[in-house]
Amino acid sequence: MAQCCINPSILSADFVNLEAELRRISNADAVHVDVMDNHFVPNLTIGLPVVQRIQAVSPVPLDAHLMIADADRWAPGYADAGVASVTFHAEASIAPIKLARELRARGAKAGMALRPGTPVEPYLDMLSELDLLLIMTVEPGFGGQPFLDLTLPKIRRARAAIDGSGVGVALQVDGGITEETIVRASEAGANVFVAGSAVYGAADPAEAVERLRAAGSR
Ligand code: DX5
Ligand code: ZN
Repeated sequence: MAQCCINPSILSADFVNLEAELRRISNADAVHVDVMDNHFVPNLTIGLPVVQRIQAVSPVPLDAHLMIADADRWAPGYADAGVASVTFHAEASIAPIKLARELRARGAKAGMALRPGTPVEPYLDMLSELDLLLIMTVEPGFGGQPFLDLTLPKIRRARAAIDGSGVGVALQVDGGITEETIVRASEAGANVFVAGSAVYGAADPAEAVERLRAAGSR
């Protein structure tokens, strides 16, 4: 049985007590940090200085999801900060291959995200440049939205392309992941799951991580 990765999103955590909130998910595979700039998405969260402090105290590696315009300019700084995995949006990058190479050269895993309406096919030739492909299962910007089942065929096509090319790219999904929807996303081929409200909305976040892990492994 292949174990999946569960990356809780601190978007649903208490932003005033982030260090304590991180300790509640020390059994997770990574912590998903949503960076929003109020341009690429209509919401604003945190930027590099706060991510650097999270990086300094987190018991698990950081998985930064940059929902920011002009990713080519800003994403490398997150790799320089020592963030383990840096994911930029394809829609926000002019030169995604150059950017992915830059992230890897700075020691980070290179991730690229696609909004629900962005097709994966134009990017299949660059899979070998990536360590992670994120297929958004809600429109990025807010936690607590319902999972979009219309993304399942795209997840299946991405899984087939990854397996067919033999590259070791992780297939991440983000948005509306619950104990119920994780089963469908996993069956379609995703193996890294971001969950915000399903983890931090639970009475015991660590237990929620274990339940999601059990439901998402196949
Ligand atoms: C949404 C963010 C997600 C968000 C997911 O734009 O990228 O990471 O935290 O939250 P849930 O799991 O509540 O849909
Ligand atoms: Zn995210």
